Amino acid sequence: MKRKSHACLIVIMVAIILVLMVVLYGTINFQLSGGSVLKTDYKLTGKPLYRLDISWPKNPEHFTGAVFGVAVNHITGLVYVAQRGDNVPKVLVFSTYGDFLQAWNTSTLEMPHGIFLANASSNPSVWITDVGSGPYGHTIKQYSPAGKLLQVLGSPGKAGTDVRPLQFDQPAEIFVHSSGEIYIVDGDGGLNNRLIKLSKDLEVLWIHGEKGMGPGQFYIPHSVAVDSFQRVWVADRGNKRIQVFNAVTGDWLGSWGSCFSVDAPYSVRLTPDQKYFIVVQLNTNQISILEAPPVGMIGECKVVSTIQLADDIKPHLVDLDLKAGALYVAEIGARQAQKFIPFYWGTTIGSFL
Ligand SMILES: *[C@@H]1O[C@H](CO)[C@@H](O)[C@H](O)[C@H]1NC(C)=O
Ligand SMILES: *[C@@H]1O[C@H](CO)[C@@H](O)[C@H](O)[C@H]1NC(C)=O
Repeated sequence: MKRKSHACLIVIMVAIILVLMVVLYGTINFQLSGGSVLKTDYKLTGKPLYRLDISWPKNPEHFTGAVFGVAVNHITGLVYVAQRGDNVPKVLVFSTYGDFLQAWNTSTLEMPHGIFLANASSNPSVWITDVGSGPYGHTIKQYSPAGKLLQVLGSPGKAGTDVRPLQFDQPAEIFVHSSGEIYIVDGDGGLNNRLIKLSKDLEVLWIHGEKGMGPGQFYIPHSVAVDSFQRVWVADRGNKRIQVFNAVTGDWLGSWGSCFSVDAPYSVRLTPDQKYFIVVQLNTNQISILEAPPVGMIGECKVVSTIQLADDIKPHLVDLDLKAGALYVAEIGARQAQKFIPFYWGTTIGSFL
């Protein structure tokens, strides 16, 4: 009798330990065999839309710098991660499955900030804004998928405010529309506080270029995206708001501020179904998912879901896989990129997209 209850006690203790291990698995940093630690701590509130893919990437030891930006080619299944640091490759290429494929060997990048994958379907290229102050800085550069420099916008090494020819000062991000038209936010705390639209042939079509707090003025315009209703959304970081413009005319359409009273929006990207915005807030370590309004009135912003990351993760910019719906987040503090996949992946993904 006594021996039986002993055995019973041991079984119960083992069960408790197993349950604790399972619970802790999701909330502690996950030590990978390679010795690199991915910081995978997070909590969901609101509608559960994404969960972390802890298996991505398979070799996090390739992250050797501070990760500032990420861009996805949904056709070829490649993820471009832009990192900063001395003597580190500035762009790492992973597959969407998490395999490390390549580090770019280019000396033409100083301090990558925003990164954008253009023309995924026919002739992909990678655009990068460089906020460095050396001989290649203050520019926006187009690269081949393997890291060959194709084109430079702006006067390399020269911060400036000119429009013809184009000069930048710490250009923050670029968005290249499928039409070939280009939207630039310039910049990340330098001389300029402007949103520029260029034609396919790099002619300036319209520009909002004033520093300030009023409609159409900016203070540190940090991220830009265009939706499928010809609206341009700008994370106006210093003013803690998102401003909206008509993509064709440049007319101001509205502004959202109430969701950002605690921390500014750093990123603005749309989910492939155009239902939600992904907005990260660096200081509060949050990924906020906002309802995207249908065509018509902008109204007020509404957060439907939040992914609360651990302290000091510092999410900066994001991108989405336009086919699979996965969300990739560049994290400056954690010095890594993470992948979040839509909930119920594989079962109701059809309805999500
Ligand atoms: C990187 O580029 C430099 C200069 O072009 C070259 O000397 C070096 O061999 C390259 N390294 C690799 C690994 O391709
Ligand atoms: C995409 O690439 C194709 C093939 O090079 C080119 O004809 C087309 O103009 C490009 N589209 C954009 C938007 O750059």
